[in-house]
Amino acid sequence: MKPQNLPGHPHFSYRDNALFCEEIRLSDLAQTHGTPLFVYSKNAMLAALASYQRGFVGRQVQICYAMKANPALGVIQVFAEAGCGFDIVSGGDMDRVLAAGGEADKIIFSGVGKTRAEMRRALQAGIGCFNVESEAELDVLNEVALSLGSRAPVSIRVNPNVDPQTHPYISTGLKDSKFGVAHERVLPTYRRAATLAGIRVLGIDCHIGSQITQEGPYLDAVERMLDLVEAIEAAGVPLQHIDFGGGLGIDYHGETPPDAERLWQTLLARLDARGFGQRQLMIEPGRSLVGNAGVCLSEVLYLKPGEQKNFCIIDAAMNDLPRPAMYQAYHQIVPLSPRPEAPGKYDVVGPICESGDWIGHDRALALLAGDRLAVLSAGAYCMSMASNYNSRGRAAEILVNGAQADVIRQRETMAQQMQGERLVGSRSS
Ligand code: LLP
Repeated sequence: MKPQNLPGHPHFSYRDNALFCEEIRLSDLAQTHGTPLFVYSKNAMLAALASYQRGFVGRQVQICYAMKANPALGVIQVFAEAGCGFDIVSGGDMDRVLAAGGEADKIIFSGVGKTRAEMRRALQAGIGCFNVESEAELDVLNEVALSLGSRAPVSIRVNPNVDPQTHPYISTGLKDSKFGVAHERVLPTYRRAATLAGIRVLGIDCHIGSQITQEGPYLDAVERMLDLVEAIEAAGVPLQHIDFGGGLGIDYHGETPPDAERLWQTLLARLDARGFGQRQLMIEPGRSLVGNAGVCLSEVLYLKPGEQKNFCIIDAAMNDLPRPAMYQAYHQIVPLSPRPEAPGKYDVVGPICESGDWIGHDRALALLAGDRLAVLSAGAYCMSMASNYNSRGRAAEILVNGAQADVIRQRETMAQQMQGERLVGSRSS
């Protein structure tokens, strides 16, 4: 039978009634490694990256993978080998990038709460740029750099006050958000930065939100950023690069975000029209590079029919897949081996002791206990936000490349979870 691609997930397909990731049958992986299990397609990640790269042909652009989306060393390695830089938000993120072979000078450091210790380590490692998010942070960074006898390369993250039309928790560029320097404070901040001996002004940066599915917010942000660049340069502070952040959404449930290539063709036309087309650019995509490259495999533990609802209790939970509980997010759920029977309606839930522990509401599925499911679009912001709630170990992760499947993270054991904890008193030795 001809393979049947999953719409929106071209590297996942059904062949003879079995779901495959590239050339690997997913039920074989579940059998060998257990569930819950995250499986990522390397070629889906590279295809997503290629879409950006096509949009940027002939331009000077550094793509910095926002590794908060998925910080597994094996995932970072894919993007490092493809020549990407990295957007980090902590010293721990930096350690991961360096451990996976990423280059320090292609790292940009975002985040509103960088500590002095993190700044010091990042300066010593020689990172490419700090995206500074407040005037107070600028002063501290200046002090830290001077104490090391160095100058910190800096972009100011601007809050452009643009509505990205996405979930409020993942809108970051509105006036009342904690991120970035307010539009009206940007010029004074650059003027001041230019006078500080421990600061070297490199560029300007913004990030307006995540899971953005329309072009409009990006066009607004580009116009507002270019207005600022003109004003900053007119005030005598030259900028080498413009960083437009990340944020492009993916198809979770029929959303139709522009593809990266088309979006950037449109945005670059605006940059050309205003004379900035040959400027060094940076972007920080996360979700759109990895989100639809990953699935989470899970086993049905119990079916629990009820008067109001039928529950399908699976072995993955909100500690593995926190997005539904946190953002009422939708992830498609599909069987690894579809059954021919008519489907029932189920709320798909995990074993955690919270009513918020749901993965999908009202899903039409034909199932029996012991069947395996794939929760789709699980490559971004799932494992990176996973926790040990209810003493659940974090899942294992597999990277598939063609017919090759490598374990890139082992399942977390109870010994690993309890490591570092101590009893007190007489039972402490
Ligand atoms: N750059 C900065 C400064 C960011 O804050 C973010 C994401 C990105 C880049 C990457 O954005 P992306 O391309 O992935 O949209 N946990 C939420 C998403 C939080 C995003 C936070 N910032 C979720 O699961 O939807």
